[in-house]
Amino acid sequence: MGAIDYQSRIPNNVHLSDDRRLQRALERWQPNYLSWWQEMGPDGFQTKDIYLRTAISADRQGWAHFDYVKMPDYRWGIFLAEPDPDREIHFGDHMGKPAWQTVPGEFRNVLRRIIVTQGDTEPASVEQQRQLGNTAPSLYDLRNLFQVNVEEGRHLWAMVYLLHSYFGREGRDEAEELLARRSGDEDKPRILDAFNQPCNDWLSFFCFTMFADRDGKYQLAALAESAFDPLARTCKFMLTEEAHHLFVGDTGLERIIRRSAELAQLDPNGDARAQGGIDLPTIQRFINFWFSYCLDLFGSEVSTNAADYFGQSLKGRFGEAKRYSEHTALGQSKTFKVLKDGRLVDEDVPLRNAMNEVLRDDYIDECGNAVRRWNKAIAKLGLDFELSLPSRRFHRRQGLYADAHFDPAGNPISEAEFEANRDTWLKTESDMEFVRTLMQPCHEPGKIANWIAPPRKGINGQPFEFEYVRFA
Ligand SMILES: [Fe+2]
Ligand SMILES: [Fe+2]
Repeated sequence: MGAIDYQSRIPNNVHLSDDRRLQRALERWQPNYLSWWQEMGPDGFQTKDIYLRTAISADRQGWAHFDYVKMPDYRWGIFLAEPDPDREIHFGDHMGKPAWQTVPGEFRNVLRRIIVTQGDTEPASVEQQRQLGNTAPSLYDLRNLFQVNVEEGRHLWAMVYLLHSYFGREGRDEAEELLARRSGDEDKPRILDAFNQPCNDWLSFFCFTMFADRDGKYQLAALAESAFDPLARTCKFMLTEEAHHLFVGDTGLERIIRRSAELAQLDPNGDARAQGGIDLPTIQRFINFWFSYCLDLFGSEVSTNAADYFGQSLKGRFGEAKRYSEHTALGQSKTFKVLKDGRLVDEDVPLRNAMNEVLRDDYIDECGNAVRRWNKAIAKLGLDFELSLPSRRFHRRQGLYADAHFDPAGNPISEAEFEANRDTWLKTESDMEFVRTLMQPCHEPGKIANWIAPPRKGINGQPFEFEYVRFA
């Protein structure tokens, strides 16, 4: 284990050649995947040489190799983290028993649904981002976009491998459906709402990789704890790739914010827009929009599904093994703010039913850390402005807070008050139009668009000026 078989049509570290049936099934899916990529993957650039990393080993040291590759030639493969032959289930009702190497019959449907829901987000994001290459602010950013895209494609492979190998006929049908749904399509939309939202400008792209990919991190981490060992090992390796996507989002936003502060300082009226940048209040409205959409991805605050997933040892908490000492989550509760007669009051919920919220808490903490860093960058440039995350209750469409209205601080307000402030709090048509005017391609080595600061470092030790995408 660890070494990857690169000779096969489908690179893998799961001894695919030992299972001819499975191999043939996946080889039949492969051309469908490639036509999906041609149709719904990045618009243009398919014949260009891109400086990309490819996974070559599943261990932590030196797992990736960097070189020029044309995207359709990317070696999408199946890589699982190293197995632990003695692995035991470490939470929920099955704690202490050996981890499952096959799917227990009683959990077949629920595991399939979990895998399909995760799998659906992977091609969805590629579809959402397919136009962005045409307006990339630099070759460095263009390359990062494509790196994220090919790896989301590989994450789809990871989920399709599980469906094909463990769920028989139904799994193969689901794998076809994953290529048939389309982000934003009226008849066949992607499963989750945030993955049907258009992502046609780079501020949205960075918000997406910051907030939606980070939801992905937390979902994958919770599934990496799963009693179903192949799922746990698949997710564990996906997390290695995911870290770069989060880096792209976090540093992308930081670079826009820093540039915005610089441009505001240059302008006699402190107006970044007048200097061709994106002003901080606009960035805040984009953050409010994407952050609140992504909070919905965690599911309802109080959820019997979540309780079942935990009880059935299918989905743990973030860092279940490392961060907790008690792993049944029984006889404990979590306190929620609930709206009663227009006022927020505390209500206790059994901890297992609150598992979505427990995961959301960790996610919000991590997002908060990033915002604090961005604010330091603003303060360092001498500007008096602070970005913030809206409350978890603000602008929700699912769960406990979806039926009421809250301001960004989380106070209950009337619908009229929300509507009166909507354009101050959430990105508007005119914000988006303005941002779109800035989206002009900058495809020359070493050059960068005016509205974003260059990165502090290049990729894989290369300078920013490196030719990350060859246009010749
Ligand atoms: Fe992914
Ligand atoms: Fe990702």
